[in-house]
Amino acid sequence: MFNMRIFRATKLLCRSFSNTLHSEPLRVCVVGSGPAGCYTAEKMLKAREQAQVDIIDRLPTPFGLVRSGVAPDHPETKIVVNQFSRVAQHERCSFFGNVTLGSSVSLAELRGLYHVVVLAYGAESDKNLGIPGENLKGVLSAREFVWWYNGHPDGQNLDPDLKSTDTAVILGQGNVALDVARILLRPTLELASTDIASHALATLEESSIRVVYLVGRRGPAQAACTAKELREVLGIQNLDISIQESDLLLTPADEEELKSNRIHRRIFELLSKAATSRPRHAGLNQRRLHFVFFRKPDCFQESKDNTGHVSGVRFEKTVLKGVGPGNQIAVGTGEFEDIKCGIVLKSIGYKSVPVDGLPFDHKKGIVPNDKGRVLSDTSDTAALEEGLYVCGWLKRGPTGIVATNLYCAEETVSSILEDLENGVLISSRAALKPGRNGLLKLLHDRNVRIVSFNDWEKIDSEERRLGSLRNKPREKLATWNELLTATTEGTEYYT
Ligand SMILES: Cc1cc2nc3c(=O)[nH]c(=O)nc-3n(C[C@H](O)[C@H](O)[C@H](O)COP(=O)(O)OP(=O)(O)OC[C@H]3O[C@@H](n4cnc5c(N)ncnc54)[C@H](O)[C@@H]3O)c2cc1C
Ligand SMILES: NC(=O)c1ccc[n+]([C@@H]2O[C@H](COP(=O)([O-])OP(=O)(O)OC[C@H]3O[C@@H](n4cnc5c(N)ncnc54)[C@H](OP(=O)(O)O)[C@@H]3O)[C@@H](O)[C@H]2O)c1
Repeated sequence: MFNMRIFRATKLLCRSFSNTLHSEPLRVCVVGSGPAGCYTAEKMLKAREQAQVDIIDRLPTPFGLVRSGVAPDHPETKIVVNQFSRVAQHERCSFFGNVTLGSSVSLAELRGLYHVVVLAYGAESDKNLGIPGENLKGVLSAREFVWWYNGHPDGQNLDPDLKSTDTAVILGQGNVALDVARILLRPTLELASTDIASHALATLEESSIRVVYLVGRRGPAQAACTAKELREVLGIQNLDISIQESDLLLTPADEEELKSNRIHRRIFELLSKAATSRPRHAGLNQRRLHFVFFRKPDCFQESKDNTGHVSGVRFEKTVLKGVGPGNQIAVGTGEFEDIKCGIVLKSIGYKSVPVDGLPFDHKKGIVPNDKGRVLSDTSDTAALEEGLYVCGWLKRGPTGIVATNLYCAEETVSSILEDLENGVLISSRAALKPGRNGLLKLLHDRNVRIVSFNDWEKIDSEERRLGSLRNKPREKLATWNELLTATTEGTEYYT
């Protein structure tokens, strides 16, 4: 009872104190302009009339994976950038591109400049398998490959060799794996009218890949993809699908699992139907997609004629063991099988990376947090990192669609508002923080060339202009130099 009274009195005190600070804007910095960052900024601007929000991003272009992840043949998913652009153009919001947390500005500096810092910088690295041969040439991560075909400026030099082999192996059966398979197998004529990077289209046009293995360590009842994306792959023109009917035999545990999971049930039905369909095509340009289940990668094999280059993957066959529905894991049987190929794309998940001074849970690959509030460590006694929040893939791990980040941002912003209300942010809020002016001064002193939202609009209109010449929605500028040059007014980069 006594504690309750003290709590109420403190809360009242904090409220009256924070009222006196109302003339001072709440200065918020959001790191990352992907869905998590943009939704956070939007919610913050709506919730607090006093909030001034700055979004920084390491790229000269905003929107994160909506630009550099979502497949070029999924234009409808990218419409959300209209909403995100309205956020960035809000009178109390600014976008500062080409500003990297960790090199242009440190976390400690940002926390000194702003009352609230929200980290939403995603997951820009890859999970590793940790098996022999992972560093061989030709073993690539799906993330790099996606950056390459989507014109990310750090993906331009990947230059995957799609000419020296007719077979590719994709590891993993999530939606990214399906995106990658579709880009490799879809007729390039259909990709030519999308916003795919021109260097990627040119390479794909010359590709000799005709066979793709999409390999999962578990079974068709556990495949991580969703129905719409699977249907799209199954419907590719001139593509035969191969699935071993024996892989479709369900155990009682699988049946239990399917009963309680509608998405997996739908996937299983689609795969079963595809397995029994007769090959539809014959002829020169025929392509084939093998869905392979119950195989976990054991090692990558080195080519005998081309030293240092991959020539195949050795898989260990698996069976599923588990404690209950949804928890079945793949266990090796000691039986092995090789698939020969000239290129491997590992699509086993993305991974976030920490910056200096940021608590990080290396096991889960996320920032330890309580509903978006950053915690000092992963223990039960962890303290709150005052004024520091997290959202999106960096908060939850690398799963979820664009809209998942809307709910994630709602939760993080609710935590910020609750903390403001309860005086948790009182010492950070009490300080006069320089916010935007302080950041601009610091970046100016370091000669960081800031790309504003106006500058991005110049890039955008140049890309659209180039695209219109090629019957594409846009031709992405895919190098740092091209992007930064296009921010110079009136530039017509090339035709
Ligand atoms: C290949 C792929 C395809 C996808 N396709 C779809 C789809 O079709 N439909 C769908 O709904 N969902 C799709 N998703 C999922 C969706 O893209 C994610 O849920 C979402 O983008 C995650 O949002 P985020 O803001 O956490 O991270 P991101 O979108 O990755 O945004 C992070 C931002 O932070 C910036 N950044 C990184 N490091 C720093 C730093 N140090 N300093 C400053 N800025 C930094 C990055 O440049 C980036 O702009 C796809 C995901 C992938 C990987
Ligand atoms: N169109 C869309 O809506 C779209 C497009 C792309 C991405 N996304 C979303 O983006 C998120 C990320 O997609 P993602 O495909 O990268 O991840 P994901 O859905 O988590 O799939 C990862 C895949 O890798 C496998 N895997 C993980 N570790 C492995 C290991 N050590 N060995 C072998 N296989 C391993 C997983 O198998 P297990 O199941 O056995 O772990 C799974 O098949 C997802 O939420 C996805 O839905 C959406």
